[in-house]
Amino acid sequence: MILFVAIFSYLLGSVPFGLVLTRMAGLGDIRKIGSGNIGATNVLRTGRKDLALATLLLDAGKAGIAVVIARIVGEGDPSFAAVAGASAFLGHCFPVFLGFKGGKGVATYFGTILALWPLGLLVAAGLWLATAAIFRFSSLAALVTAAAMPFVFLGSGRFTLFLGVLFMSLLIFVRHRANIERLMDGSEPKIGKK
Ligand code: G3P
Repeated sequence: MILFVAIFSYLLGSVPFGLVLTRMAGLGDIRKIGSGNIGATNVLRTGRKDLALATLLLDAGKAGIAVVIARIVGEGDPSFAAVAGASAFLGHCFPVFLGFKGGKGVATYFGTILALWPLGLLVAAGLWLATAAIFRFSSLAALVTAAAMPFVFLGSGRFTLFLGVLFMSLLIFVRHRANIERLMDGSEPKIGKK
């Protein structure tokens, strides 16, 4: 049954809402704009704040739904929830619908955390917002949040969920390799800039 949950969650996570919404709005292929990423930060570079917000909510929501369904199917077993969140996250980063070339997973990470432990989302959102407010880099805010959240889960005694969050955090660092290089050489664009 957990395999079914993983496959379903992966397929749900594979839906590239940023790409779908920008195409529907006639903005072309988001993969040819800005950083080329399919996420909300890059959708914001089109100037459409409404589409960026919708991308954020839908990319987060698909992971949240996957975890909620896994909770029901797994009758509360935390390993089902952790597997569903990580699978939806993998789907977003490596979507079968886009030849396995997907996004960086930050919104999906937030949606997973919300569904795993709502209080954890408050910590994650606080870290992201504080870092973004100070430095104005979406990528740096994501990296700081991804670095801290496994420890937050571990500290709260949620060991099974910690493993899922650690896996996603490590992948967020891998997916932000180009951003890390740009942050180091000073060429990373600030939030909202092209
Ligand atoms: O959430 C993705 C963000 O951390 C980086 O996006 O488009 O600047 O590479 P982008």
